[in-house]
Amino acid sequence: MDNIRPFYVMELLARARQLEYGGRSIIHMEIGEPDFPTPEPVVLAGKAALEQGYTRYLPTTGLPELRVRIANYYKSRFGLALDPARVIITPGSSGALQLVMSVLIEPGESVIMSDPGYPCNRHFVELVGGKPECIPVGPETEYQLTAEMVKGALTPSTKMVMIATPSNPTGTVMSSEELEAIYTVVSEHGAVLVVDEIYQGLIYANDGSTALTFGDDMFVINSFSKYFGMTGWRIGWMVAPEAYVSAIDRLAQNIFISTSSLAQYAAIAAFSDECIELMESRRVAFRERRDYLLPALARLGFNIACVPQGAFYLYADSSKLSDDSFRLSSDLLETAGVATTPGKDFGDNQPERHMRFAYTTEIPKLKEGVDRIAGFLKVS
Ligand SMILES: Cc1ncc(COP(=O)(O)O)c(C=O)c1O
Repeated sequence: MDNIRPFYVMELLARARQLEYGGRSIIHMEIGEPDFPTPEPVVLAGKAALEQGYTRYLPTTGLPELRVRIANYYKSRFGLALDPARVIITPGSSGALQLVMSVLIEPGESVIMSDPGYPCNRHFVELVGGKPECIPVGPETEYQLTAEMVKGALTPSTKMVMIATPSNPTGTVMSSEELEAIYTVVSEHGAVLVVDEIYQGLIYANDGSTALTFGDDMFVINSFSKYFGMTGWRIGWMVAPEAYVSAIDRLAQNIFISTSSLAQYAAIAAFSDECIELMESRRVAFRERRDYLLPALARLGFNIACVPQGAFYLYADSSKLSDDSFRLSSDLLETAGVATTPGKDFGDNQPERHMRFAYTTEIPKLKEGVDRIAGFLKVS
């Protein structure tokens, strides 16, 4: 437990809520979930499931119809033929990540990942006795690992290489060529590639791709949380190599039994044309927010070295404004009423120089936030 760090942003969020309770207005740029509600057809499908009494355990690997829908989604979006038997429904992608680490990692084995990166991954590795190998990455590689970096970091104890594209906290997308090169390096070493594609639906330069087009012997993680706007339903999925499906099934039977039945029935509706159209319009809205917020923050002195092509985050270098981003985050909250996430939530690679801004709120509120930050910086 000593190695499990809290989310510092949760402290800030709690403080923000306290300030709001006391009557202060707070602009939230710290929250890593879409402000858009769950699409209505999904909500209706969830209600119908409840009314029809679909409230019991389901097969551990998930509702067959949902697994087929997900496989079809890969076909329609990426032209990829995928056996639904390889799709495993999980309680959020968090559940999938836990299962993957538990199935693959023996005590003492190591997992390569980027720093900054999604903080829970380190903890999942440590929970199963593994060793996270966090490699510092910066703007010169768009905050992503490269095949060369991975090659240099591989050791006999490396069991897994973990990539998130688009990434949290940077929103940057790894090119398909680099990802394929990493896949080759990792496979040749006899390790396993795990690609977290939870923000796959939220890519702005193009429609994005999936690592699954490179081969079958990797794990791909995804979720209904972000693109599909279902964070609180707690449902995600993984696509696993066929050889691992029964081990994952066995483990998930023991840990989770099954994923929420209501969420699974509801999620089927997320693939309707109507829902996809709605989510695609939200993708456009997120891009517009990014296009507003990035130059606005740059004008205030935050350095955002590469334009992130996905997710809903800007990872900004705040060192021109403060030598302690945690302090700056906290001052912005207390004095200006703007909540942000300090870099120290995402690793040990120059966290004091960085802050994450989430554009999970509408443009007028983002503008208000920017005005407040501008006012704060002038007086501080
Ligand atoms: C990169 C990444 N992976 C996984 C998760 C977990 O999401 P969930 O369990 O809601 O699917 C998150 C949540 O913020 C994330 O940013």
